[in-house]
Amino acid sequence: MRKLTIALTKGRLADQTLHLLEQVGISCEEMKEPGTRKLIFTNEETGVRFFLAKGPDVPTYVEYGAADIGIVGKDTILEENRKVYEVLDLGFGRCRMCVCGPPEAAELLRHNQLIRVATKYPGIAKEHFYNTRNQTVELIKLNGSIELAPIVGLAEVIVDIVETGSTLRENGLTVLEEICPLSARMIVNPVSMRMDNRRITQLIQSLREILGKMS
Ligand code: PRP
Repeated sequence: MRKLTIALTKGRLADQTLHLLEQVGISCEEMKEPGTRKLIFTNEETGVRFFLAKGPDVPTYVEYGAADIGIVGKDTILEENRKVYEVLDLGFGRCRMCVCGPPEAAELLRHNQLIRVATKYPGIAKEHFYNTRNQTVELIKLNGSIELAPIVGLAEVIVDIVETGSTLRENGLTVLEEICPLSARMIVNPVSMRMDNRRITQLIQSLREILGKMS
């Protein structure tokens, strides 16, 4: 039987995903070996193959069919905008995409000022400011520690993920607007969904049942 390939997002999401998959009988001991540099792991018994990738690459692997299934944050799905089916909310990795900044920046938003917006998510920020708010802004793409931008005067506000809110608090920033809630999602390649429908829908169903019991 053809192996079902699952792309996991490296890091926190991968650990939680593996834990969840174990509960539906799909485990991968090899992947848990500390310090392993291996990138792809096969479980012969269940006919499943896993690989680890950077978050933004997961929808790419799934769109091209190099992975049948991907587990990735909703933020990445929105930002990458790939042709994939989003089939399940896994419930973990819950956080929010927000416009944040110093409290004074609320005024600039209220008056639709031409402000600079720093973000790791230019697609989401553009959609929010241009289409939802109808506000013209200058977008500045950064790759991390976004909270620095308003502190050092690179931008008036940021569009970023807020989980506990402690990074904002510790840097004198606040949530100015919520864009959308986020969590880990399961995505599927449309062709795989047709060709391997039985196995994939069965997996979605088992995960749904486990998630239902957990909530
Ligand atoms: C994310 C996000 C915020 C922080 C929010 O950054 O970009 O900086 O977590 O979490 P909190 O609300 O619980 O403080 P991440 O740690 O992924 O690193 P990054 O700054 O390199 O993006």
